[in-house]
Amino acid sequence: MNYLGIDTKTLKPVAKKLNKLLASYHIYYQNLRSFHWHVKGRSFFDLHNLFEDFYNDAKVKIDDIAERILTLGHKPDGSLRTYLNNSKIKESKDLLKDDDMARQVLENKSELIKIMREVIKSASDVNDEGTVDMISGMLSSMEKETWLLHSWYKRRQVGFAKPKK
Ligand SMILES: [Fe+2]
Repeated sequence: MNYLGIDTKTLKPVAKKLNKLLASYHIYYQNLRSFHWHVKGRSFFDLHNLFEDFYNDAKVKIDDIAERILTLGHKPDGSLRTYLNNSKIKESKDLLKDDDMARQVLENKSELIKIMREVIKSASDVNDEGTVDMISGMLSSMEKETWLLHSWYKRRQVGFAKPKK
């Protein structure tokens, strides 16, 4: 019985893109955890807390994505090895400077935004409005977070610029 009114086979490309998003989200999540632990310096409280907020949010999104794949009648990947292979986001080194961490998180978010747009395109192609709606919500909140973080990052660049001679 197909409760969704869309053939499970038709939804396969959507599930594949969602698995790519799921894998990338896992690496993003782990990067944030690592940055949360290793950040040092004057922006410690800003970034330590911000990264925790981001990874807690990612945890919820990861579950939503995996359960959407199940809802579509497909199987979410569950192994770390698969995540590392499928992720568009690379594992970060532990010991980056605070500014480098913020920039890395911005780049990771930018990559997730790209994959979300791919998911939306793929889901639109087969009239899977449920996925379009879910991922569109994630996309707009991720876009807003990049604006917030970028504003913080720019302020830091200005605030710590070397004085002109
Ligand atoms: Fe903590």
